[in-house]
Amino acid sequence: MSAVRDQSPAGAPPDAAAAAAIPDVRLVDVTKRFDDVVAVDSLSLEIPRGSFFALLGPSGCGKTTTLRMIGGFEEPTEGAIFLGDRPVTGLPPYRRDVNTVFQSYALFPHLNVRDNVAFGLRRKGVKGKDAVGPVKEMLHIVGLEGLEGRKPRQLSGGQQQRVALARALVNSPRVLLLDEPLGALDLKLRKQMQLELKAIQHDIEITFVHVTHDQEEAMTMADQIAVMNGGRIEQLGTPTELYETPNTAFVAGFLGVSNLIPGMVASEGTVQLRRGPLVHVSPEVIRGRSGDVAVGIRPEKIELGDGQQNVLSGRVVESAYVGVATQYIVETPCGRITVYVQNARAGSEAAPVGSALTLSWSPEATFVVDSTEEEPA
Ligand SMILES: Nc1ncnc2c1ncn2[C@@H]1O[C@H](COP(=O)(O)OP(=O)(O)O)[C@@H](O)[C@H]1O
Ligand SMILES: [Mg+2]
Repeated sequence: MSAVRDQSPAGAPPDAAAAAAIPDVRLVDVTKRFDDVVAVDSLSLEIPRGSFFALLGPSGCGKTTTLRMIGGFEEPTEGAIFLGDRPVTGLPPYRRDVNTVFQSYALFPHLNVRDNVAFGLRRKGVKGKDAVGPVKEMLHIVGLEGLEGRKPRQLSGGQQQRVALARALVNSPRVLLLDEPLGALDLKLRKQMQLELKAIQHDIEITFVHVTHDQEEAMTMADQIAVMNGGRIEQLGTPTELYETPNTAFVAGFLGVSNLIPGMVASEGTVQLRRGPLVHVSPEVIRGRSGDVAVGIRPEKIELGDGQQNVLSGRVVESAYVGVATQYIVETPCGRITVYVQNARAGSEAAPVGSALTLSWSPEATFVVDSTEEEPA
């Protein structure tokens, strides 16, 4: 079935529903070693058709290597890679229905915008006039009309980025791979391109696999994020799932700020804080854990006063007005807790340093991760 689709992308597969259920990209126990470095460590992954998927993690965690193996620029040491239901292990990049946009853009300096984009089609054997329509349409989609005759050096960074994108999309690959494609742009343009890329992906419904170390970028753009650490996936989920219920301290700390308080599982829905009260949590977040754990709460989910079920008291050690919110650091028996209080009303007075504060939060706002403390020696 995939062979049929690969030969004639326009022809509908015999069973459209079944075809849609096959993930566009599938990695099965993929490991990549460079001498004694394990860059990717028995990683398994499925990327649904038509989705915007992000690989997120710190520098050196194996994102680029994973992307390069999907693209065919590296071969796995172990494991298998599928595009649709077709195994592609061993196939060179040009035999895979995948294109890549690199951070460096890799445009041809001597070719104008139109010819740079047309190159994407020529490489697939589309000749002369047949390229005119698709190139025009793609330049429209990425917002480059009127700049067809310019050379790359006559374009801004953001415009060069669009040319690279148009060239990679013009022959409608099954999957587009993007390796930190916005890394060279300044912050304002990067924010704008994040939204544009997402809109383009939504329009053309091609699967995007986007590599980034920027958690905000991944959360802004992706339907699903795989958080990588040390060549493995720590957690895979929607931005909301990863932020609201991180499974590990690494994920909690990589996506935003969180308070982690040591404790011990007391029952199906409670954790006894080591130096504080019993806190109530949803049974799902305990996920069968027992013994030492850490209880997590995001700073904006804590309110001042005892209005919620989980209560902790302390004293303000720092208070900073940051416009939309006031940030407090509160010293409690369980350690220092960061709290963000929204400045929703004008003229609200901040609690001064040294004053006593009662903090509370709901069970639903609480997550649980494995203990972050070293075993006592
Ligand atoms: N060609 C290579 N030769 C040797 N080591 C490599 C090579 N490519 C990547 N690595 C190593 O593999 C690990 C993962 O690298 P990479 O996939 O580039 O990470 P990321 O893109 O997440 O920053 C790093 O330790 C890196 O030094
Ligand atoms: Mg990289």
